[in-house]
Amino acid sequence: MTTSPPSPLTTLQNKRVLLGLSGGIAAYKAAELCRLLVGAGAQVQVVMTKGAQEFITPLTMQALSGQPVHTELLDPTAEAAMGHIQLARWADLILVAPASANFMARLAHGEASDLLTTVCLARRCPLALAPAMNQAMWSNATTVSNLGVLEAAGILMFGPAAGAQACGDVGPGRLLEAAELLQLCAAQFTTGSLAGKRVVITAGPTREAIDPVRYLSNHSSGKMGYALAEAAIEAGAEVTLISGPTDLPAPDRCKLVPVISALDMLAACQAHPSDIFVAVAAVADYRIAQPALGKIKKTAEELSLSLVRNPDILATIAASKPRPFCVGFAAETDQLAEYAKAKLRSKGLDLIFANDATSTFGNDAASVTAYWPGGEKVFESQSKAQLARRLIALISQRSTATHA
Ligand code: PMT
Repeated sequence: MTTSPPSPLTTLQNKRVLLGLSGGIAAYKAAELCRLLVGAGAQVQVVMTKGAQEFITPLTMQALSGQPVHTELLDPTAEAAMGHIQLARWADLILVAPASANFMARLAHGEASDLLTTVCLARRCPLALAPAMNQAMWSNATTVSNLGVLEAAGILMFGPAAGAQACGDVGPGRLLEAAELLQLCAAQFTTGSLAGKRVVITAGPTREAIDPVRYLSNHSSGKMGYALAEAAIEAGAEVTLISGPTDLPAPDRCKLVPVISALDMLAACQAHPSDIFVAVAAVADYRIAQPALGKIKKTAEELSLSLVRNPDILATIAASKPRPFCVGFAAETDQLAEYAKAKLRSKGLDLIFANDATSTFGNDAASVTAYWPGGEKVFESQSKAQLARRLIALISQRSTATHA
């Protein structure tokens, strides 16, 4: 496995990009951008303002994105399928290209007057604007002031470029070229904060055999662990994903080690040394003392299974020498903070993420609270993809601080 710098073709793979178009002659470039994003493996949903539809048709964007285009805020059919809140939750990145002076003004003033401004307001992911307007409009004091408000709110600006404009003027206000916008989108998913680090992540459930056809397991889907693997890859790490059985495809550019039982998982973890070890797997705490060699027959009215404790994989790795930076998860139904902090101490961890067992297993979104010696941080509910990026940022920060 190599860790060559990621190209747009890999970092945008399976990323959910919401491409917003506001009104402007440069809207035609958004068609090319949409084509490039889809070609790079991104899933693209398009939202168009009324103004944008004067310059380019929704049909064009639908054909290029392969998805119905969203245009109306109050559309009963859209609300039933993917309404504004779902669209905002769905996106990993929102890019408005072109962003007109009017759109920037409405966004700066917190308007939710159409679908695009509303989705931007309800977002949980990074938002970037690619401004496109006449050079005098770009330099106008009101636009400059709006730009200040938007940048202060953490909104990214892609461009504008300077040069000849459609109206005949020359100056700043040109929409960046589609290929440049593609690069900037891809860069949002690459941080380099874990460059050169070996990260081992456990994910999914384990299965403990009862007999050759039956097993004990749990509802872990692997989504959280796989999202963390993706985010660690984006951050430049060399990732090994040690996974119990899931239905998920392995992320690109990571070494997948499939395992079945807790004992298999422990052996795989011990065979793969790391700088950072992240235990996301829901490991069965117990296994059948002696799995039957043949299928157990339905003869008795009652059947007892004798269980023995499985080794604690995370605690074992945390006690090894030299030990990696160790991160655990705690899935609890009650007393979340108390139990998570107790696991942080008893397993000898550097960081633990506590999540509610009743709402996290199998879901696409999660909220967690991080605890480490002397600190804590809440991460509100968001998609596991987005959450994973934030958790990886914290892991990178804490591991640097711990080893400083
Ligand atoms: O896979 P998803 O559907 O996306 O769901 C994600 C998740 C709920 C599985 C995940 O967010 C999560 O909370 N994983 C840990 C679940 C768990 O088993 O927690 P625990 O409190 O029992 O274990 C604490 C820690 O010790 C965990 O890091 C676990 O991986 C580790 N452990 C536990 C037992 C064991 N024998 N070996 C271990 O390494």
